[in-house]
Amino acid sequence: MIIETNNLTRKFGDRLAVDNLNLTAEEGKILGFLGPNGAGKTTTMRMLAGLISPTSGYAVVDGIRPDKEAERVHEIIGILTETPGFYNNLSAQRNLEYFAGFYNLSDASAQIEKYLKLMELWERKSDKVGTFSKGMKQRLAITRALIHRPKILFLDEPTSGLDPEVSQEVRGLIQNLSREGYTIILSTHNLSEAEQLCHRIAVIRSALVTLDTPANLRKRLFKHQTMIKLEEIDENLIQAISKLDYVNKHSREENTLLIELADPSKHQSDLIKKIVEAGGRIIEVTDKKHSLEDIYLSLLNEEEKI
Ligand SMILES: Nc1ncnc2c1ncn2[C@@H]1O[C@H](COP(=O)(O)OP(=O)(O)O)[C@@H](O)[C@H]1O
Ligand SMILES: [Mg+2]
Repeated sequence: MIIETNNLTRKFGDRLAVDNLNLTAEEGKILGFLGPNGAGKTTTMRMLAGLISPTSGYAVVDGIRPDKEAERVHEIIGILTETPGFYNNLSAQRNLEYFAGFYNLSDASAQIEKYLKLMELWERKSDKVGTFSKGMKQRLAITRALIHRPKILFLDEPTSGLDPEVSQEVRGLIQNLSREGYTIILSTHNLSEAEQLCHRIAVIRSALVTLDTPANLRKRLFKHQTMIKLEEIDENLIQAISKLDYVNKHSREENTLLIELADPSKHQSDLIKKIVEAGGRIIEVTDKKHSLEDIYLSLLNEEEKI
């Protein structure tokens, strides 16, 4: 694991921003930090990047303790912060040259060219940053995070404030970076973004709620359900359904039955037959689709009950 945290904790005064966080990041993969505003995503990234220290616990980033050797960590990580600043009166290229000057790079201009091209900004390299759109500035900020050849890239809400089309473009570029082998930690409160980009998602609310692949999060929390809307539902019908051995679970919401079947593809037609035989008048049969939103809310609710 290229990153590991051990009860990583950060307080601001009495406020517990990050609470005994234990997580790992795999090399070459994208790990998502997903959580509502104020969940501690930025604070966690800043601790991992060696920009602030934990109040207790620690992290290990590629074998280095960021709280003890911040400088060494800075060499191997690149970070896109929530509010990247540029010199608006300088060209994109000049801005990057300026920031490259902070590092001891032998081939800064080659590196700048490579990543301006990768971020599809090469044609605009001589234009003043002040004339750039938000999306272009964001791509330039990602370029800046890459010029010193970091191994690990922290992207703090890389698409926030961008319109949907531009966000999608930026996501595509992030996928390209992932293909180049970068380890990426990406924070977001956008669920579909997390699902689209991340190999694993850490759901965070000060503490870690859960960490898993998007597919497993779905599977773990929700079973397939068949929804059957009827003209009316009576006791007789409910009785008939509960007798069926392939019905794992059933519940009712007004005139709709929610039924969890052992094997939907096998049992759905028989279920419908049995309902009709029991006198049920079916209006509609559908599969209940659980959105990531459902999963997320149910995770956060679970957490609340603990
Ligand atoms: N520099 C700071 N001083 C005081 N409180 C802070 C500071 N930075 C963050 N916090 C608080 O810590 C909590 C987590 O913030 P943050 O890490 O920015 O969350 P997120 O990035 O998930 O929105 C919030 O309650 C926030 O107000
Ligand atoms: Mg944040």
